[in-house]
Amino acid sequence: MIFTGFNYKKVKRMNIKTLTASIALMTVLAPSYAAESEEIIKYRNSVMEAYAGHMSAASRIVRGKVDFQDQLKLHADSMAGIANITGTLFPEDSDFGETRAKEEVWSKPKEFEQAVQENQQAVSEFNKAVASGDKDALAGSFKKISDSCKSCHEKFRTEEE
Ligand code: HEC
Repeated sequence: MIFTGFNYKKVKRMNIKTLTASIALMTVLAPSYAAESEEIIKYRNSVMEAYAGHMSAASRIVRGKVDFQDQLKLHADSMAGIANITGTLFPEDSDFGETRAKEEVWSKPKEFEQAVQENQQAVSEFNKAVASGDKDALAGSFKKISDSCKSCHEKFRTEEE
């Protein structure tokens, strides 16, 4: 018996007190805990939307659809900034709520980190191409970014319902 040597009645009384306190604490914390996860999910999807916005804008310049060459660096810089924070957007406990993140994000952290790095690498190449103005490098590195977004989504994001 675990309680040998203790005053069993006292332990029992203590446990009930502790239990009551724990339940009270859980009642207070649980909703904010869930709400925090929801907020993080919304935040990360807003950042992802911004990422997609810069990609889409940049692609129009890269493909010569619009002539905003001088704004390409803005998009490239913003994309680099986002690529650098992607890994931080998936903290533990941000996995419940309306999320399409697969559990593999957390159960396969090395693979996920690799996907983050491949994306960073591609964005970094794109930034160099923007600086050099080399058209082939621009198109090539842009495609690499797009492939790395897709590849991460295929592995770590559920299909749209
Ligand atoms: C390392 C993995 C990874 C990379 C790289 C990545 N994403 Fe995502 N992205 C995700 C995951 C996981 C989700 C789902 C997040 C959720 O629902 O909580 C997501 C969600 C999104 C969404 C949906 C946002 C919404 O409102 O539901 C868009 C758009 C998006 N990503 C665009 C991009 C673009 C564009 C790139 C590349 C420029 C990119 N992502 C790179 C993992 C990644």
